[in-house]
Amino acid sequence: MEIFLDTANVDEIKEAVDWGVISGVTTNPTLIAREEGADFHEIIREICELVQGPVSAEVISQDLNWILREARELASIDSHVVVKIPVTPEGLSAVKVLSGEGVRANVTLVFSALQALLAARAGAAYVSPFIGRIDDTGQEGMDVLDDIMGIVENYQFSTEVIAASIRHPQHVLEAARIGADIATVPFNVLKMMFRHPLTDRGIERFLADWDKVIKG
Ligand code: E4P
Repeated sequence: MEIFLDTANVDEIKEAVDWGVISGVTTNPTLIAREEGADFHEIIREICELVQGPVSAEVISQDLNWILREARELASIDSHVVVKIPVTPEGLSAVKVLSGEGVRANVTLVFSALQALLAARAGAAYVSPFIGRIDDTGQEGMDVLDDIMGIVENYQFSTEVIAASIRHPQHVLEAARIGADIATVPFNVLKMMFRHPLTDRGIERFLADWDKVIKG
């Protein structure tokens, strides 16, 4: 399973790229708004240079022609840009048109397997079920992810499934068990994935023992 970073913060992205574990980035209007004063297109350009992999940038228009206009503009920033479009009828019409032009779309705000099926039919390169937000409603986000993986497999869609709205490392583990293509994780969750108390204790012990070797 690939790991994308779910952030618009350039410092976080630089650090995670250096760790060698992420292959893409997803942003959304909320994440962009956290980078106060920064220019949207500039941030996306910078992230693309750093990551050299798929970088999702979201449109805010809801009318077909405006979505298309915005999407083409975002796609022209860098060849790594993937245009993020909410799963609405107009949004999927745009996905269909854009896929014909070679512009990749990440269909977002997906909360059901049927929405994912429609996105795949429209030619989405990626589909993003929001696991954490589904959990918040009392439904199992992982069940929705599992259904989506089954549908993509049944019909051999080329759409890749991104487990999104990830809240903790257990979400990442379950997404990997289910076979999601990608999990997009916030920086704090990525850092938590490294940690295990036995690793820390093991390093301490090795260093202490090595000290004895040096001191004789
Ligand atoms: C990524 O594609 C989504 O926009 C993001 O994971 C949503 O996460 P949230 O539910 O924590 O806002």
